[in-house]
Amino acid sequence: MLAVTRTQYGAPEILEVKEIDKPVPKKGEVLIRVRATTVNRTDCGILLGKPGVIRAFTGLITPTDLVPGTDFAGEVEAIGPGVTKFNEGDKVWGFNDNGISSWAEYMLIKEDGKLTKIPENSSFKEIVACIEGAHYALNFINKVKVKTKDKVLINGATGAIGSAMLQILVHMGLEVTAVGNTKNLILLESLGANKVINYEAEDFTKLPEGSFDFVFDAVGKSRFSVCEHLLKPKGVYISSELGEGLENTYLPLLTKIKGGKRVKFPFPTDIKGSLNYISKLVEQGAFKPIIDRTYSIEDIRQAYTYVLSGEKTGNVVVEI
Ligand SMILES: NC(=O)c1ccc[n+]([C@@H]2O[C@H](COP(=O)([O-])OP(=O)(O)OC[C@H]3O[C@@H](n4cnc5c(N)ncnc54)[C@H](OP(=O)(O)O)[C@@H]3O)[C@@H](O)[C@H]2O)c1
Repeated sequence: MLAVTRTQYGAPEILEVKEIDKPVPKKGEVLIRVRATTVNRTDCGILLGKPGVIRAFTGLITPTDLVPGTDFAGEVEAIGPGVTKFNEGDKVWGFNDNGISSWAEYMLIKEDGKLTKIPENSSFKEIVACIEGAHYALNFINKVKVKTKDKVLINGATGAIGSAMLQILVHMGLEVTAVGNTKNLILLESLGANKVINYEAEDFTKLPEGSFDFVFDAVGKSRFSVCEHLLKPKGVYISSELGEGLENTYLPLLTKIKGGKRVKFPFPTDIKGSLNYISKLVEQGAFKPIIDRTYSIEDIRQAYTYVLSGEKTGNVVVEI
């Protein structure tokens, strides 16, 4: 089968597209014919081996998996002995933030792993663009108690995380202020933002004091110290990045002890829960995939280079 491979951590040049053996499902495993995957920011972390903490899960010196890739949509090609939840021909999608070897024509996954059947009304290409960012967005949202009409600001609302977060919070009935660039203002409005801020023309940190219950930085380019005044007295700040001097790892404890405005950190958990939640929203027409570019597997290096630029809008899909 055709697959993207690598044997070390590094930049796009280390990726090689070549023929390798097609895997055979063992007990409890499902063989997937991958039809679509994405290149996302989690893939970038796994490929570069940065931040270093990621290597605790993906291989300390060299990567454990020959084939990278964290998400997929495709068909069950064959099932191993003892598999009862899936049948040949089932259309499925899934995600694993530690890597799932999905940048290939075929991949294996345990039947009780992080996969589920795709919603009836979705194509492979559409549904695969609905999980990586949405999963991290849900990790933000699940860290706090949101109520209808709560006011939230999303910085980086055009990214995979931000665009998913915007759609989910609008669906939940919150009032969302979305920060993005000039070219995406109409997109942000179309996704339901109550107010849109063009960061190329306006500095959101100059908004009135106490405007928001939550400030969610989905691009990790702000700091609690510059956003604190925007929060209401019990407001919460969350960022997708560790922050300067890793401050977002210790500020949650410091602000908890101090009381009042809090910082929280979104450790990713419950991928199956995210797959099921997003499946329901997609079925209801309340969540749509935002696809920036689509590449073929042969162009994986270009896809990875583009995603590494940090400028994509939503998701970058690879059709296989
Ligand atoms: N904590 C975790 O577990 C975790 C997991 C995955 C990703 N991440 C991190 O989360 C961040 C976002 O991930 P993602 O996949 O959503 O990224 P992404 O798709 O690369 O999105 C970043 C978006 O933010 C926009 N942007 C860039 N600079 C901005 C600024 N100063 N103000 C507002 N918007 C800006 C970019 O567009 P323009 O440049 O065109 O404006 C782009 O649309 C990344 O830094 C990634 O490393 C964290």
